[in-house]
Amino acid sequence: ELGGFPDYMSKEIHEQPAALRATLKDRLALDGTVSLDLAGQGLDLRGVERIVIAACGTAYHAGLVGKSVIERLARVPVEVAVASEYRYSEPVGDGKTLVIAVSQSGETIDTLAAVEAARGFGGRVLAVTNTRGSLITREADAVLLTHAGPEVAVASTKAFTTQVAVMQMFALELARVRGTLPEERLLELGRSLRLVPEKVEETLAALEGEYAERLAEAVEVFEDARCALFLGRGEAFPIALEGSLKMKEISYVPAEGYPAGEMKHGPIALVDERCPVVAVLGEGVVREKTLSNVDQTSARGANVICVARSDDADAKRLSRVVLPVPEAGGLIAPIVDSVPLQLLAYGVATSRGLNVDKPRNLAKSVTVE
Ligand code: F6R
Repeated sequence: ELGGFPDYMSKEIHEQPAALRATLKDRLALDGTVSLDLAGQGLDLRGVERIVIAACGTAYHAGLVGKSVIERLARVPVEVAVASEYRYSEPVGDGKTLVIAVSQSGETIDTLAAVEAARGFGGRVLAVTNTRGSLITREADAVLLTHAGPEVAVASTKAFTTQVAVMQMFALELARVRGTLPEERLLELGRSLRLVPEKVEETLAALEGEYAERLAEAVEVFEDARCALFLGRGEAFPIALEGSLKMKEISYVPAEGYPAGEMKHGPIALVDERCPVVAVLGEGVVREKTLSNVDQTSARGANVICVARSDDADAKRLSRVVLPVPEAGGLIAPIVDSVPLQLLAYGVATSRGLNVDKPRNLAKSVTVE
């Protein structure tokens, strides 16, 4: 059943290329055209003026990536809400509000309640879920399935990266409907997304082959860690948050995910040699800004682990360990950047002899409040 892997989490991390291929299949053509068939399901995107993404935990982090990419490409304001808060917030909206509920299981009680709250103000509902026929699909106007296959390990991995891919395809579709970007640019971005499965494959192969020692060194940095800071900006920020959640969940190291620029407003006080800093550099303008924030932590004695493009000389200079990800571009970065953080949390948990598939106090799906 585990197909030679020691546990489900490891199996599911390695299933990501296949899960991503299955999720993109029939939706993203060779030339980069996206077709999600939402109109065919009765969901007309033309009238959407505002979007709320409601979700819990890891799915919430996929929603944060979604916000960033939807706003950037389609220029629609997006709010991302923790479902348990949203349901009791007397949410504001109308028929032009689209609520996107993201849930691997499709059975999370708070996310279902968020959908009901949206129904209360007449909002349209799109469900992004991994589970065909789940409760949430019955409450939604339209459904986009992630085709990650069954996820057994409590800590979500392949469900997360496929959720991100679906949010990215949705952003491309919405941008086309709204005409916010030239067709050629949208196709180019679509084609970049087609490369994601093989880039994830490359990332896994490098971190378990050529760069295995670096991953081992990063795990070693955590050996006597009391806490950790996970930093990023832009689309790398939700990836940092997700990395810190994985670390907390399976290795029980208290880990804070923070926007890198916010660190000096408080959390930098945590930094010492026993509080490693994990920085996701990302691409574009944010990379340089994050680097300068990272520099401030290394100056204070932090052991810095950077997730960076493999040829990033600045990252090498500032950090104790660089976990390399391939040159990406387009829409690729958030998904490939997730992979080293999954392997890091996994490595730290297994080095402590913990059960990665069934961390203490957690259930795979939270169907009671
Ligand atoms: C984290 C994790 C949880 C879930 C959350 C939502 O690894 O698995 O945070 O993401 O409980 O679950 P779903 O997506 O089933 O609604």
